[in-house]
Amino acid sequence: MLRVVVCVSGGGTNLQAIIDGIAQGAVCQTEIVRVISNNPGAYALERAKQAGIEGVCVSPKDYENRSLFEAALLQCVKEAAPDLIVLAGFMVKAPDEMVRQFENRIINIHPSLIPAFCGTGYYGLRVHEAALARGVKITGATVHFVNDGMDTGPIIMQKAVKVRDGDTPETLQKRVMEEAEWVLLPWCINLIAAGQIRVENGRVTIAE
Ligand code: GRF
Repeated sequence: MLRVVVCVSGGGTNLQAIIDGIAQGAVCQTEIVRVISNNPGAYALERAKQAGIEGVCVSPKDYENRSLFEAALLQCVKEAAPDLIVLAGFMVKAPDEMVRQFENRIINIHPSLIPAFCGTGYYGLRVHEAALARGVKITGATVHFVNDGMDTGPIIMQKAVKVRDGDTPETLQKRVMEEAEWVLLPWCINLIAAGQIRVENGRVTIAE
């Protein structure tokens, strides 16, 4: 069994896609052992509860400084003894120490085709606003391993989504989620659980 910790901050639709993937058998050999949110009000925590998964909040507001918060977050992750950490709409940059201890064992979903519209400041609706402002005809989502940079780790998988005339950041965000994010993330976790993903020299290969 692949023990997975999922880190969230908001609505948790990507978390739900993983929960559903496991329940429906599309994601095999995988167990979500803990959901961690930095935000006590995250609906994702409610989703975890409804699925019978332990949900824990580690809020920066409860710590005197950033390094104490980061230490508590890492501790909370490690207590669950995960094989894989999934950042699913987690609005906190993974602490360096966590990245070091879990090299190539942390993945993130980003709602664009990296390297477009990623890096510092590109999160949530801003990503889609930027894509529309640039007038791209195709956008999408990317699942990648997390390194110490911002959206710079090895890319695992990408899925393209067409931009339509008249799209708003909201309609585009919704379509990218439905057509790309909710498909890609469970798919990648299943491949990792099956031992089919390799990282060599910063590049990912997927075994057939
Ligand atoms: C998604 O667009 C994800 O790609 C981004 O944050 C959003 C999270 O949505 N990193 P949800 O909390 O999974 O509904």
